[in-house]
Amino acid sequence: MENLSRRRALTLGVALGLVGAAAPVPAWASAGSAAGTGALTGTGAGAAAGPGPEWIWDDAADPLMARMIDGGHVPAINRAWEKWVNNNDPIPGGLPSDFAAYLAQANRLPSWADQAKLDRAADFNRRRDTYLFMLYGLGSGIMSTVIPREAKSVYWSAGGADMQDRAAKTFTFGYDLSELGAFKPTGQFVVTANKTRVVHAAVRHLLPQSPHWKAVADESIPISAADILVTFHSLGTYVHQKLIEWRIPYPAADQEAFLHMWQVAIHLLGVPDEHIPKTWAEALAQSRQVLTPILSPSTEGVKLAENLLGLTAQIDLGVTRGFLNEFVRYVLSDQVGDWLGLRRDYAAAALVRTAWPTFILFREGLSPVMPRTFYMFDQFIRALAMLFLNRGSSGTTTPITIPTGNRPG
Ligand code: HEM
Repeated sequence: MENLSRRRALTLGVALGLVGAAAPVPAWASAGSAAGTGALTGTGAGAAAGPGPEWIWDDAADPLMARMIDGGHVPAINRAWEKWVNNNDPIPGGLPSDFAAYLAQANRLPSWADQAKLDRAADFNRRRDTYLFMLYGLGSGIMSTVIPREAKSVYWSAGGADMQDRAAKTFTFGYDLSELGAFKPTGQFVVTANKTRVVHAAVRHLLPQSPHWKAVADESIPISAADILVTFHSLGTYVHQKLIEWRIPYPAADQEAFLHMWQVAIHLLGVPDEHIPKTWAEALAQSRQVLTPILSPSTEGVKLAENLLGLTAQIDLGVTRGFLNEFVRYVLSDQVGDWLGLRRDYAAAALVRTAWPTFILFREGLSPVMPRTFYMFDQFIRALAMLFLNRGSSGTTTPITIPTGNRPG
C-alpha cells in the first residue's frame, strides 16, 4: 500500500478536518460500534480475536452474485428490478428464486433503526443541502480519487468507462438517502442501498477477473467492509467535521441524527453492526486510523479526478475552472490538489479563502455584511445542486444496474 509517513498523514488529516487538533482521540475499537459488541478491528490497541473488517466482505450477497453472473441471469435481473423503486414495492417477479429470496430478507431496516432520528436527519439534509452538495460533491467526490483502492476499483470496473453515467448513479444514492422520508415505506433509499450492495457483490466477483485491475491492485477481492468504512469516512465523517470547522449552526440532535442516518446506510450496504462506529468521536478515531494514512495519488485516481472536474465544467457553474480547482484545494488541502495536478489560480484562491467564510456568515445570519461575491457563490451552489440532483430534462434519477463485465482497457 502507498503509505504516507505518519507525520504527513497527520498534517493532511488536520487539513481535512479529520484529525482533532485538541485532545488525542482514543484508538478506535469496535467495542464502540453501533451494536456495542463484537470483535475489535484488529488495528486498535488491545485488538482481540475475530476478523477485522478488512477480512470481511459479504457472505450473504457475494456467493449469490457469483452464481447470478456465471449463470447469465444479470440482464434479466436488471430488467426485472427497473420498476422496483419504493421501499414498500413488492419484490419484482421474473427474478431467479434464490435472488428474490435474498432481496426479501435483505430489504428491511435494522431493528435498531430509529425513525425519529431518521426524520430529523431528513430535515437536517433539507436545511443544510447547500453545504452538503458542496462537501459531498467537491470534497468527498474528489477525495474518492485519492483513496487508491477505491479509485482503482472504480476505474477498472465497467462503470469507469463512462464517468458521467457512474457519477449520476452515485448521485441517485445521495439523492435517495437525503430525501424526506427516505427510510419510510414510501421512500426509496432502502431499495437503492440494497441495489448498491448487490452491485458491490457483483464487482467482487468481476474485478478479480480483470487483467488491468489485477496488475495494479494490492488486494485479491475488492470492497471489504473496511473499504466501505473508509468511504463512509470520506463522506459522512468528513462532512460532519467540515460543518463544525465552518461553524455552521449544527446542534447535537442534528449531529446525532446525521450519524444515525449513516449508520443505517452502512448497515444496509452489508457492513456488520459491530464494525459501525457508535459515536462521532469513534468515527473520527477510526477515520484517523483507516482513511488519512492511505490517501495518496494513483494514475487511475488522477484520471478520474480530471474526468469528474470535467463533468462539472460541462454545466455553467458561473465560475472558471481555476475557481473550481481552488475550491477543491480549499476543501481538500493543497497536498491533495498537488497530487491531482490541479492547476493553480492564485486570484481565485485568494477569493475562495476570504469570501467563502464571509458568504457562510452572511447566509447563516451571523453577519449583516453581504459579500460582493454572494451571487457568484449562490449560482455556483445552485449549479452543483442541479448536477447532484441530476434532474436535468428527464426529471428522474439514473437507475442503478448490475454490471456484467469490467472496463475493457
Ligand atoms: C457501485 C455507492 C463503497 C466501488 C456503487 C454504486 C453506488 C455506490 C451508489 C452503484 C452505482 C454505480 O454503478 O456506479 C457506494 C457507497 C459506499 C461505497 C455509498 C460507501 C459508503 C465503495 C468502495 C468501493 C466501491 C469502498 C471500492 C473500494 C464501487 C464500484 C462500483 C460501485 C467498483 C461499480 C461501478 C460499475 O458499475 O462498474 N457504489 N459505494 N464502492 N462501487 Fe461503491
